[in-house]
Amino acid sequence: MIVVQVSDTHIKSKGKLAYNKVDIHKALYNCVIHINNLNPKPDLVIFTGDITDNGTNEEYKLFKEIVKLLDVPFYAIPGNHDNAENLKREFEEYNWFEENNHLSLVIENFPIRIIGLDSSIKGESYGGLNEERLLWLEKQLNKFPDKKVLLFIHHPPIKIGIEHMDVQNLQIGKECLANLLGKYEQVLALACGHVHRVSTTLWNKIIVLTAASPSHQVALDLRKDAKAEFIMEPPSIQVHYLTEEQGLTTHTSYIGKFEGPYPFYDEKGEIID
Ligand SMILES: [Fe+2]
Repeated sequence: MIVVQVSDTHIKSKGKLAYNKVDIHKALYNCVIHINNLNPKPDLVIFTGDITDNGTNEEYKLFKEIVKLLDVPFYAIPGNHDNAENLKREFEEYNWFEENNHLSLVIENFPIRIIGLDSSIKGESYGGLNEERLLWLEKQLNKFPDKKVLLFIHHPPIKIGIEHMDVQNLQIGKECLANLLGKYEQVLALACGHVHRVSTTLWNKIIVLTAASPSHQVALDLRKDAKAEFIMEPPSIQVHYLTEEQGLTTHTSYIGKFEGPYPFYDEKGEIID
């Protein structure tokens, strides 16, 4: 089973560049083409928040126009830049969300279950999980205790060492989340967005992964009081390769034109020296 994760697309209104620099619409279009060219095709794509930059209906409509070009099913959970009501309304026909108070989702029709947990709090950049969301997650994990799960959330519960992002990570309910995940060993990893960088952390025996953006990345600056800056490092998606036997391997797939691939061996089967 292959699940593609795309995070932090930050779609703005028509013709508007992000921070007067980044052509965010073209970046999403390139990302969609990149996914459509994957071979084999993924089973699904999940967008892990900050779908839009300001959460307006126009932005969701523009996002939808582009992602409808995907030739595999797609899902989305919100981030801090999203507007839950508008996101829910604009994607009502997809029936992703069952709950009234949060936009979390479960995808059941695969050997490995996919859960997307809403960590957004209206009006705040940081994330949080209240009792209702944690109880919902526990209920989902109790349903099929023998089935492996890959859990997606926008805000990572960990610090990645980039201070201006770390202050807006998952601030509320992270101890409860750690305790909960400690009880349910079927959860393979927690795959997050928000920080616009690929990183891996072992947190309370749970693997926490973060994804980069298909457009702009947060500059890697681990100094104290590092400036909040972005950088046009290569855009990428996460390709989560899942098997019932082994579990999870996550690849980062870069979007763009690169030389190759070139063969290691010649026509006679000998290594090219
Ligand atoms: Fe975010």
